[in-house]
Amino acid sequence: MSATIRVAEHAGACYGVNRALELARRCALEHEEPVHTLGPLIHNPIVVEELAEQGVGLSQSLDEIDRGSVIIRSHGVVPQVIEDAQARGLSVVDATCPYVKKVHKAASNLVHEGYDLIIVGESGHPEVEGIVGHAEGKAHVVASPQDLDGLTLGKRVGVVVQTTQTAANLSAVVAALAPLVSELRVVNTICAATSERQRAAASLASEADIMIVVGGKNSGNTRRLAQICHVACPKTHHIEDAAELDRSWFDGARLIGITAGASTPQAHIERVVSAIEHMTAQS
Ligand code: F3S
Repeated sequence: MSATIRVAEHAGACYGVNRALELARRCALEHEEPVHTLGPLIHNPIVVEELAEQGVGLSQSLDEIDRGSVIIRSHGVVPQVIEDAQARGLSVVDATCPYVKKVHKAASNLVHEGYDLIIVGESGHPEVEGIVGHAEGKAHVVASPQDLDGLTLGKRVGVVVQTTQTAANLSAVVAALAPLVSELRVVNTICAATSERQRAAASLASEADIMIVVGGKNSGNTRRLAQICHVACPKTHHIEDAAELDRSWFDGARLIGITAGASTPQAHIERVVSAIEHMTAQS
């Protein structure tokens, strides 16, 4: 009996990543002057290489770009970066995900309304740095309830959340904050894409004989998917591309599950599916 190959119900590039890729490719097609992203557009080395072939270069800082266009990544930047790019005469293509922009707006509004701002998220993450910038630097970044220890907070506290955080962590921070303040305003800015992918991956892994997780080894959300799958399905392999597949992995497997991180384009998932179809058809 041949194996069944099933892709998780939610897998691969999210809306914001697809939009950023589309904007970058279109910009390279439409402009003769150089096009650069500021930092890798997504955490996926294969996609970064493909973009380079399509005319989208990679720069780590504005100092490396003397003309043309600069693409702002889906997780956004501090406003100063856009102002600096414009002041240098660069054309700015803002591919910040609209859901991240909502966090920027909520953070800025809360600060202007006089709330002491807490960002639930990972300190140092580019998305979180961008949110801090939109809050004019007036924010405390808190990864977990323990980080509240020792913070001096005003009576009115506002909370926003990094889009990829879990609802459980947000609830834990809010529960710990509630007794400390007299007014608490929480704007839940979590994006469903991450939790949908995690839930769908866990569900498929619980049935599958083997799980293939496709995405950059440097992608935090893809590594997290691999960890989640590994709990339910010990035969879980994290690969960046179809070339890493090994036919022997599929020996005796009846259900082969596939999932992919939010930075993995659909085309990569399809390449992996057809490679596995080919391998299992011959066995
Ligand atoms: Fe945007 Fe959510 Fe993706 S915030 S970049 S759609 S994970």
